[in-house]
Amino acid sequence: MERGDITTLHVDGIVNAANSSLRGGGGVDGAIHRAAGPKLKTECATLGGCSTGDARITKGYRLPAPWVIHTVGPVWRDGKHGEEELLADCHRRSLEIAMEKGLETLAFPAISTGAYGFPLRQAANIALRTTATFLAEHALPHEIYFILFTERDLSIWGEILDTMIKKQSKDQANDT
Ligand code: APR
Repeated sequence: MERGDITTLHVDGIVNAANSSLRGGGGVDGAIHRAAGPKLKTECATLGGCSTGDARITKGYRLPAPWVIHTVGPVWRDGKHGEEELLADCHRRSLEIAMEKGLETLAFPAISTGAYGFPLRQAANIALRTTATFLAEHALPHEIYFILFTERDLSIWGEILDTMIKKQSKDQANDT
């Protein structure tokens, strides 16, 4: 878990919080397209869009990361329209595609927590749990980075991770 700009990372793949058109936008989507250059949009245009909860892979072009996995997060409404499951799907599908491509390192932004309004704490819980479950069942990717854009976001994700680790070690102590 780090604070920073995901477009600067030297990892095998970075995940983009895109929209269903895959034509680019603001936020991290805009930053990734700006850093990758126009060829990214050209390749995205060949993909025919992407449904919410699904993901597509493209090259990274001018980015240090050779691959970009574009996923479309849910727009937060009230938590009663499958938003949590769809956000979990975004992480699972991105991880599946990274594994299929043989990527060893992958970085995620905080999907849906910006323009799409997903509450940060809930998003952190879903992202961390989904990723932990996937990594326990698959050999690749080896390393996952969560890149938070602000100190506030980083401290909230850090709190959620600490709580999960404490709960996990308590559960393990009870099992022995
Ligand atoms: N690196 C890492 N994280 C970033 C960066 C960056 N360069 N820029 C923004 N972020 C963070 C935001 O602070 C937020 O925590 O990414 C998170 C996701 O916010 P958005 O980019 O707004 O994405 P999202 O909420 O999923 O909304 C997606 O916004 O940009 C459009 O085309 C995009 O329509 C789509 C929608």
